Amino acid sequence: MTWLVTGGAGYIGAHVVRAMVQDGQQVVVLDDLSTGTPDRLDPAARFVPGSLLDPTALADAMHGVTGVVHIAAKKQVGESVAEPLRYYRENVDGLLALLEACRDGGVDRFVFSSSAATYGMPDVELVTEDTPKDPLSPYGETKLVGEWLLRDCAIAYGLRVMCMRYFNVAGAAIPELGDPGVFNLVPLVFQALAKGERPRVFGDDYPTPDGTCIRDYVHVADIAEAHLTAARTLDAGSTGSTYNIGRGTGSSVLEVLEVIGQVTGLEVAYDIVDRRPGDPARVVASVDRIAEDLGFRAEHDLEQMVASAWAGWQLRHP
Ligand code: WQD
Repeated sequence: MTWLVTGGAGYIGAHVVRAMVQDGQQVVVLDDLSTGTPDRLDPAARFVPGSLLDPTALADAMHGVTGVVHIAAKKQVGESVAEPLRYYRENVDGLLALLEACRDGGVDRFVFSSSAATYGMPDVELVTEDTPKDPLSPYGETKLVGEWLLRDCAIAYGLRVMCMRYFNVAGAAIPELGDPGVFNLVPLVFQALAKGERPRVFGDDYPTPDGTCIRDYVHVADIAEAHLTAARTLDAGSTGSTYNIGRGTGSSVLEVLEVIGQVTGLEVAYDIVDRRPGDPARVVASVDRIAEDLGFRAEHDLEQMVASAWAGWQLRHP
């Protein structure tokens, strides 16, 4: 079996490639290196530089492929609000081109990188896959539109699809693969500490036990393992499904800061600032469906996420 991993030079994609190569899968990577970097490329994978929107690169990448793990996408919520057309072009048109290539090439296995951003502001203790979808940003909208496209292709062309809705991804399997972006809570706190600044906590008046927002943080190595499991399940004949990929455990912003202090040995003095618009108080996954269907459970805890992310940060900022 040969799997095309789009975005395989990026933070999450490189972890998925690593897990698939270690499992003995043949892997092709298509990546335009807009945010991914060549040093993340696994030498065991065939690399095609280029965009999904470049027909020549796409045709080259699809050669001999039996399944696709589609991770290449723009993923910054705030940027998507400012540049919605760019997000629809890259995330939706990119997927469309890839699906046409799958249809034309008879590729019927597809693992899609979706997001908890499809749920928006869920008003439930645990978000199940059936919780209503109401994305709050163009980014989340492009992921939901992607899921609809895939559902339609499943009906029309027999595409077998696994939609993987990630919650808050953090950590690194090896320091070299750490998240180079500084957009999410953990790297933002590292950056503040490195600059001698105080990390900011966006609001402490939420209806949660300590007043700060609760999220379901999940280790990127677990995300990668979930993709491998999904791909193998498709290879075994599954017709596909949609899954939350989280731990089923919530951590507040203050709890994350406490673990960062423990792991780094640094004093983490923070400032409470205004709420960030559009932040839900609590987003925690129900992970029963993937456990029951695929036997998958995330194995790493918050401390392992923070420690591995910190090792990666120190490698990039000696
Ligand atoms: C986490 C918590 C903040 C920074 C985003 C996307 C989501 C998904 C994951 C892709 C929140 C608080 C943050 C800071 C803070 N992406 N925070 N101070 O917003 O939960 O999810 O990334 O699929 O779609 O929306 O992640 O890391 O920005 O924030 O207090 O400096 O940390 O308010 O509660 P978020 P985040």
